[in-house]
Amino acid sequence: MRPSKSDPGRGAASAAWEVLLPAASAPARTRGRALQAALREAVRSGRLAPGTRLPSSRDLAADLGVSRGLVTEAYEQLTAEGYLRSGRGAGTWVGAAVRAARPRAHDLAPRAPGARADFVPGTPDLSLFPRSAWAAAHRAVLAESPHQDLGYPDPRGLPGLRTALAELLTRRRGVVADPERIMIVSGVTQATTLLGFALHARGMRAVGVENPGSPQHDALYASAGVTAVPLPLDGEGIALEPLRESGVRAVVTTPAHQFPTGIAYSARRRAELLDWARSVDGIVLEDDYDGDFRYDRAPVGALQGLDPDHVAYTGSVSKSLAPGLRLGWLLVPASWAEDVVERKRTMDLGHPALDQALFARFLERGDYDRQLRRCQRAYRERRDTLVAALEEHFPGSEVSGIAAGLHVIATLPERYGPEERFLARVAEAGVAVRPLSACAHTRTEDTAKKVRLVLGYAHVPPARIAEGVRLMAEAATG
Ligand SMILES: Cc1ncc(COP(=O)(O)O)c(C=O)c1O
Repeated sequence: MRPSKSDPGRGAASAAWEVLLPAASAPARTRGRALQAALREAVRSGRLAPGTRLPSSRDLAADLGVSRGLVTEAYEQLTAEGYLRSGRGAGTWVGAAVRAARPRAHDLAPRAPGARADFVPGTPDLSLFPRSAWAAAHRAVLAESPHQDLGYPDPRGLPGLRTALAELLTRRRGVVADPERIMIVSGVTQATTLLGFALHARGMRAVGVENPGSPQHDALYASAGVTAVPLPLDGEGIALEPLRESGVRAVVTTPAHQFPTGIAYSARRRAELLDWARSVDGIVLEDDYDGDFRYDRAPVGALQGLDPDHVAYTGSVSKSLAPGLRLGWLLVPASWAEDVVERKRTMDLGHPALDQALFARFLERGDYDRQLRRCQRAYRERRDTLVAALEEHFPGSEVSGIAAGLHVIATLPERYGPEERFLARVAEAGVAVRPLSACAHTRTEDTAKKVRLVLGYAHVPPARIAEGVRLMAEAATG
């Protein structure tokens, strides 16, 4: 289905209609409820943006192969719940006020396969995945690994991988990385969950999180019985006074390239943060999710390197290789190590051994450094293309957070607002974007007026970036 002005509901969110298909094939008895649940979830998660027009009940029923009555009923129910609104004879729309649940972890990944342009942040260019080098490493590992490497691994990870990673993290990120203390985990996500349990075990039932920040934190910490407390940022990082006043003793940060604003924490704020952690006998959790990509500023070393006794450091290959590998690392202060390792053991008895051996070889042979250099070149070009296209098509915009990472923040002049209208228009044109407000734990005053976008560019080839921005501008002003 291609988007078209005369048929507004059908193109922009065609991907979302497809997610309703599984519900449509539910057993007849539960089909109505399944359809309502799927529709509700699509609205909640932002898959169906506020203002999106839904197809007529007749069209959607035909597309899904269900009775029209089921669709009408679903529309009525969700209208009553406030998820949808309908005008007499004018169709059905996603309600303006819906911004319920913040996107959860899985919503971070681009999920706009049918979009004409996709700027949803969170994924690197998967076509740059080094398939041949990976395949060669795989073959070599299978041929050379001793049988005992196929047994239950040390829950911290294979010694060879921990040694290779320690070398990498020390060299590239200034981490104090003792191989004995590195743990291999299945991404920052698992590291966060492990830390959540460790906080809980120490009686810490609240953790400060950056606001705006990663939308996945609430759910991850909640699963460990820990409440995420949103804390505001200022120009230098997480603001100190609110942090002190909050009473938390643990705080999650992204100091190298704050997610999503892109600021790098100032040297002063880093020092203040560590002073704070020492004064409350607390801990700073450092998420170095895209610390490898720097374009035109000096690398900012990891905070952990300044005080390994008060910082837990985590990162993964999700931005440098592929998130589907589910491979990351975690370093915790010595006094936390035993507890965290035990939790990893009870969770999954350690990370898959062959994957670890493969990645160790990949690191040892310089393949990972080559991959980072290759991506760095590609992403810098894409970033430059995006910034230039925004200047051309959205004059007067402020583009920030551009010196590093895989996304920028574009603050559009007021004439493009309010946000709700802008999002509805670009969605209708088939352009997938994520507003900064989706990362806000609390609503800020000006979101309705000014449009702020978190634009991911790493996964989009330059020509499509330029074309996508043009399409977005056309839709926004059309
Ligand atoms: C702030 C932040 N941290 C970490 C991650 C990655 O988590 P994982 O390593 O589990 O893939 C993401 C994913 O987009 C993220 O946005």
